[in-house]
Amino acid sequence: MSFTPESRVPSPESRLLPIAVLASGRGSNLAALIDAREAGGLPVDIVLVASDKADAPALRHAEAHGIPTLALDPKTFASRREFDEALFANVAASGAQLVVLAGYMRIIDATVTTRWTGRIINIHPSLLPKYRGLHTHRRALKAGDPEHGASVHFVSAELDGGPVIAQARIDVHPGDTEDSLAARLLSREHRLLIACVGAIACGEVRERDGKVLFHGDPIPAPLRLDPGGHLTLA
Ligand code: GRF
Repeated sequence: MSFTPESRVPSPESRLLPIAVLASGRGSNLAALIDAREAGGLPVDIVLVASDKADAPALRHAEAHGIPTLALDPKTFASRREFDEALFANVAASGAQLVVLAGYMRIIDATVTTRWTGRIINIHPSLLPKYRGLHTHRRALKAGDPEHGASVHFVSAELDGGPVIAQARIDVHPGDTEDSLAARLLSREHRLLIACVGAIACGEVRERDGKVLFHGDPIPAPLRLDPGGHLTLA
């Protein structure tokens, strides 16, 4: 599949960027994207929701909104690479030009992430580069961090290591638990993801040579989410 940065910008005729969302579980980030889309606040067409878990609530939510879904069982493939090749063949066939990992709990094979460079983003519940991987809230609390947050980044072959587009920050309160921190962060995650997907759909944000461009210029630091839900330079 060929891809140019320009094809990330919806054409005046279509205006909507076709996106696929991959999710393994609850799907609250997917639900936020669907709500924003249905409210007319996000110029995307969600053409596919796919999962590695057939019982993922995210799939049921997508079905309830008339969005095509796909569940593929990794256990029926000989290797991670074969699974990811099959999954992304379906994603490509859907016409998606951007893939959003929203609580997708599998590492994607490097051959696929390399082919889709600049076209896959992930939401991760930490202020990257802090706390790649799992148990981010626990690790932030254990470290005594005064601040915690979420990041949206372009996906590279390195786990949670691709260029960060934007971050949302929250204060850690005395007495916070993993659950309270996760709950307080979640609504900010949703707004952050909507803002990032919207900025890519409008052509304001893109990736080039491992760097995030905002209105055509490389950003010196992750963008911030302002109170109005817009991305701004830090
Ligand atoms: C979110 O915290 C997201 O940052 C992380 O996994 C969680 C998914 O939640 N990658 P949901 O399934 O979108 O509700």
